[in-house]
Amino acid sequence: MTHSADRPTPLQARSSGPLTGKVRVPGDKSISHRALILGALAVGETRISGLLEGEDVLNTAKAMRALGARVERTGAYAWEVRGVGVAGFAQPEIPLDFGNSGTGCRLVMGAVAGCPITTVFDGDASLRGRPMRRVLDPLELMGARVGASGDGGRLPLTLNGARDPLPIVYRTPVASAQIKSAVLLAGLSAPGVTTVIETEASRDHTELMLKHFGAQIVSTRDGSHGRKIVLTGQPELHGADVVVPADPSSAAFPIVAALIVEGSDIVLSDVMTNPLRTGLFTTLREMGASIEETEVRGDAGEPMAQLRVRASKLRGVEVPPERAPSMIDEYLVLAVAASFAEGATIMRGLQELRVKESDRLEATAAMLRVNGVKVEISGNDMMVEGKGHVAGDGLVATHMDHRIAMSALVMGLAADRPVKVDDTAFIATSFPDFIPMMRGLGAEFS
Ligand code: S3P
Repeated sequence: MTHSADRPTPLQARSSGPLTGKVRVPGDKSISHRALILGALAVGETRISGLLEGEDVLNTAKAMRALGARVERTGAYAWEVRGVGVAGFAQPEIPLDFGNSGTGCRLVMGAVAGCPITTVFDGDASLRGRPMRRVLDPLELMGARVGASGDGGRLPLTLNGARDPLPIVYRTPVASAQIKSAVLLAGLSAPGVTTVIETEASRDHTELMLKHFGAQIVSTRDGSHGRKIVLTGQPELHGADVVVPADPSSAAFPIVAALIVEGSDIVLSDVMTNPLRTGLFTTLREMGASIEETEVRGDAGEPMAQLRVRASKLRGVEVPPERAPSMIDEYLVLAVAASFAEGATIMRGLQELRVKESDRLEATAAMLRVNGVKVEISGNDMMVEGKGHVAGDGLVATHMDHRIAMSALVMGLAADRPVKVDDTAFIATSFPDFIPMMRGLGAEFS
């Protein structure tokens, strides 16, 4: 699915009255991809409720169908998957197009790497520019082979899965749940034990869900911030029920909007609060944000809570580099919050932001500068000078990146003058109802 040929849809956000009301943001993107993939690798029926029906996840659903699983929508956000069993994927007759989604693409690379089939992977211009070597390196160690590919292993590429995949011990070179998950998914088809070691713990949804589907997988602490994950290969995965909690990375946008728009008071239900995803909440609270958690509960190892967020006076803070994996997708909207804070916010260890849907380090700095905020990038660190208010009046380039579009629109809700984004189309990859949901809370877009 590519948007490049579509006409861009610009939008402007203007200073709004208090945001109020209760909403449930869409299902978690990471968990939605994994539920479809593990459902397709399991024997029997998997019933998913609360699936994110955004373009990224719908592309993964299509890929699972092309690989032989039965995937059906049975109601609003309700899906059923009948899987083919571990190593049971059929040779797809069409190239798998992951659109804008690095997660879908990289996880499925892992899932097919241990099956004796040839799969063609492709995506939009943004995804074609992103590094795939980080996933292909370990998959090649496990026996998969890359046929044709773009420069440096980029998309479009052909992956020949291993007939007899090898279990490996792999230390991930960067904290990345996508690399970890690709190795674990390939390890499902390998005999014996596949081990992944990470120096900084990344989101553990794959591990939790594999356990939920019946795999033997053990995760222990390794070093001060790391994890060692040991998976026993060739399990029989059985279909399971998955309830997808609301996505904290999507909740981040109404949360920051409520914090910076004077007088706001909103409630977000069922937000996933897995500690490997909540670095933004920790940081915002350190800045003085009022975010209250109630109705704390959990499902299949994933905790969730209701959040009440009230407009707050924010102050600048320093965000340590080891927090980055738990808030890697949230720095853009944190930079918006930091712009409205009093004092400097320093965010360290942001190198991974350069290889997301866009170069988010440069794109975030550009978004702030064009709206009159002073920002400096020094190596992998970013410093935002908060002045308590933002001038606005900027036109923000979204670079095919949903999170830039949403962050800029949030900024416009509290800026002195309106903020415009050049294209909102990519918001549909992760948060299709963002604009109507924010309008329902009182946001003014035109
Ligand atoms: C994701 C992992 C992160 C994150 C992405 C979703 C996942 O990427 O940025 O949006 O679901 O595994 P990396 O693991 O490459 O940091």
